[in-house]
Amino acid sequence: MAQASARPIAPAKGRLGVLTVGLGAVATTFMAGVENIRRGTSKPIGSLTQMGTIRLGKRTEARAPLIRDFVPLADLKDLVFGAWDPVPDTAYESCLHCGVLDRHEHVEPIADFLKAIRPMPAVFDRNYVKRLEGTNVKTGRTKRELAEALRKDIREFKAAQKCDRLVIVWCASTEIFISPGPTHQTLEAFEKAMDANDPSIAPSMLYAWAAIMEGVPFANGAPNLCCDVPALEKLAAEKGVAIGGKDFKTGQTMIKTVLAPMFKSRMLGVAGWYSTNILGNRDGEVLDDPESFKTKEESKLGVLEYILQPQVYPELYGNIFHKVRINYYPPRGDNKEGWDNIDIFGWLGYPMQIKVDFLCRDSILAAPLVLDLAIFFDLAQRAKMGGIQEWLSFYFKSPQVAPGLYPEHDLFIQQTKLKNTLRWLMGEAQVTHLGVEYYEYGEK
Ligand SMILES: NC(=O)c1ccc[n+]([C@@H]2O[C@H](COP(=O)([O-])OP(=O)(O)OC[C@H]3O[C@@H](n4cnc5c(N)ncnc54)[C@H](O)[C@@H]3O)[C@@H](O)[C@H]2O)c1
Repeated sequence: MAQASARPIAPAKGRLGVLTVGLGAVATTFMAGVENIRRGTSKPIGSLTQMGTIRLGKRTEARAPLIRDFVPLADLKDLVFGAWDPVPDTAYESCLHCGVLDRHEHVEPIADFLKAIRPMPAVFDRNYVKRLEGTNVKTGRTKRELAEALRKDIREFKAAQKCDRLVIVWCASTEIFISPGPTHQTLEAFEKAMDANDPSIAPSMLYAWAAIMEGVPFANGAPNLCCDVPALEKLAAEKGVAIGGKDFKTGQTMIKTVLAPMFKSRMLGVAGWYSTNILGNRDGEVLDDPESFKTKEESKLGVLEYILQPQVYPELYGNIFHKVRINYYPPRGDNKEGWDNIDIFGWLGYPMQIKVDFLCRDSILAAPLVLDLAIFFDLAQRAKMGGIQEWLSFYFKSPQVAPGLYPEHDLFIQQTKLKNTLRWLMGEAQVTHLGVEYYEYGEK
């Protein structure tokens, strides 16, 4: 039974252009994956928008449609792709270079599709990503000029591809660590800093500014400071553009945000958590630079603090030794190994250990997240939900939230938040998991 009234949502008609900043391992695995799925040769495993269901009403009602049958989402057949990258390789060449997908099974059969995706010249500056060289790069006197060139790209892509709507997902390398400063506080200061080529304005912020100015939703899949600064948050809210991030929650952190709530819910203590990774892709090479690693480290370290609340439970979590390491190890390519050693303690303080060794595939985990984010950001935009998309925290290591709020990191709280937002959008009752209505407890 519908409860509140549904929110008006513009229909998902016409083509949805998905522009990725970066055409590396994650972006090409996403695009090639969608095309293989469209041609019927693969399944969208890992994608909530394509495979997930949502329970509606009471458990006795047995209503659990597919999410894509419940909310009006863009159809995979209507997606068209574009990208920017300082490396001029087409999506086909990039796929082969990254080596994530099997060449004969998933790349060659769609070679025509991948060869047609040529990256537009990027706004790229080596000062922000030290381990990369780029030749396919825009030139301009000021950062404002570069950002204006991005706006032009966005408009031209939309017209050339006959798109009805666009969405942009940052899938580019992790930039160096930047702390929010005075130039990030107001739009006026931000735009002045663009004109003055201030170093506090990173390329990623120029893409975010350009997207918001063009009314295009923008999601940040990397941990660098980007659309999560007050100037851009205010601009997005004013212009009614959906924004959010940051840092796709794929491997080790996904596991961390499942295990840590388990310890806390059972009041088990944690003495130490040592997390290390080996990976050999270009992302690993970029993260081998200490300044890019610091950005990633902050994003990975934050989650335990928020979930375990050491200030509330000092005896259990007040003294955790938490360490995160990423080691560049070329032989593994995109197949990352994430090790966790967790020292916990239980009743009367007796110690125990848990070891997790996740032999994962980074881009295989990230690709369905790019798809879901593109599709849900487009939904948010059609539902006129401008500004920060906290309900999509589920996808991020460091979810962006309104000023003054702390982020929810627990994966299952995030999932509930996401599904309840979909119910709210469609005017369905919230699922609270209370359940007393199924029992007769007698008079009070
Ligand atoms: N794979 C995962 O599980 C995962 C999880 C969380 C975050 N991420 C982040 O996603 C991003 C992409 O990862 P990847 O494995 O595809 O890396 P990648 O190195 O294969 O691809 C990144 C691409 O971005 C390009 N690039 C760099 N700066 C750019 C700029 N200013 N404009 C346009 N393009 C630019 C690079 O040339 C490269 O082709 C990284 O920041 C990574 O940290 C990945």
